[in-house]
Amino acid sequence: MVIQAEGLVKRYRDVVAVDNVDLTIDDGEIVGLLGPNGAGKTTAINGLIGLTAFDSGDVSMFGRKVSRVTGDLKRRIGVVPQEIAVFDDLTAAENVAYFGRLYGLSGTRVAEGVDFALSFTGLSERRDQKPKSFSGGMKRRLNIACAVVHRPELVIMDEPTVGIDPQSRNHILESVRALNGDGATIIYTSHYMEEVEAVCTRVVIMDHGRIIASGMHGDLKALVDDEEIVDIELERVTPDVVNAVSSVAGVSACAPNGTHLRITVERGGVRLGRIIENAVGAGAEVLSAHVQKPTLESVFLSLTGRSLRD
Ligand SMILES: Nc1ncnc2c1ncn2[C@@H]1O[C@H](COP(=O)(O)OP(=O)(O)OP(=O)(O)O)[C@@H](O)[C@H]1O
Ligand SMILES: [Mg+2]
Repeated sequence: MVIQAEGLVKRYRDVVAVDNVDLTIDDGEIVGLLGPNGAGKTTAINGLIGLTAFDSGDVSMFGRKVSRVTGDLKRRIGVVPQEIAVFDDLTAAENVAYFGRLYGLSGTRVAEGVDFALSFTGLSERRDQKPKSFSGGMKRRLNIACAVVHRPELVIMDEPTVGIDPQSRNHILESVRALNGDGATIIYTSHYMEEVEAVCTRVVIMDHGRIIASGMHGDLKALVDDEEIVDIELERVTPDVVNAVSSVAGVSACAPNGTHLRITVERGGVRLGRIIENAVGAGAEVLSAHVQKPTLESVFLSLTGRSLRD
């Protein structure tokens, strides 16, 4: 067990930023902490790494109960903060070396760590340049390099892909997989469900300081009952066709949209044949059909009544 936390609470005056959170993270997991602005993700993380104190709760890390995150514990953790935290007046290599020493490296291990971290984030060629000449994506990557210089067992990344280009974003997602492949446990916060879906082995959804759902993707999607959206494209949509499709068992809505029909149906994948059969029976010519499975976005919507990025 890398982290075992129980009953975490953090209040800011009348805001309960973290509201009775229990969180267990196993060795080797990539846990996605997903939630909208103000959900409490950063506060929870900052509490776990000892940057802020929880008002109550118990935290164990690496199997040991911790009241304060001390030096030897910090060396086993790498933190990529939400706000980019690099020095503009130091070169990329100097920045990474600075953090390496902060994380307890000394002697030749600093230089080795710098080489590893810069090459890992694709910044080797920029090692002697200062971050003020970097693009947003390169700064984000440097921010990550600073957090992995000491090859930590636990890497915590707080929205590492905000405001960057798709290329840097893919690079970062790849680096998360690579770190995990080398044995690191990862906590990854994001607003972006497609990122979390792509990279995480487990998802924890937070809202208003609470964990409202947690599980593997499949488990979470199962929470959004069995409803799916079937989209069929027809040569022409007629009232007869709409009636025929609406009469299929499990169909709760059938909305025409141009030459498309958007059908809300329980277990749409199983009922697709019947839907097409009825449409054709009512004189339709079907051009294409598509079944949409629930996404994390729809899970969030169904759990909270709000969209993930509102
Ligand atoms: N230092 C602080 N003082 C007062 N309130 C705070 C402080 N830090 C956070 N909060 C409040 O705590 C709540 C949770 O904020 P937090 O930054 O943890 O959310 P988040 O999930 O990280 O959001 P985002 O996705 O925008 O980064 C918010 O209501 C926020 O306004
Ligand atoms: Mg945050």
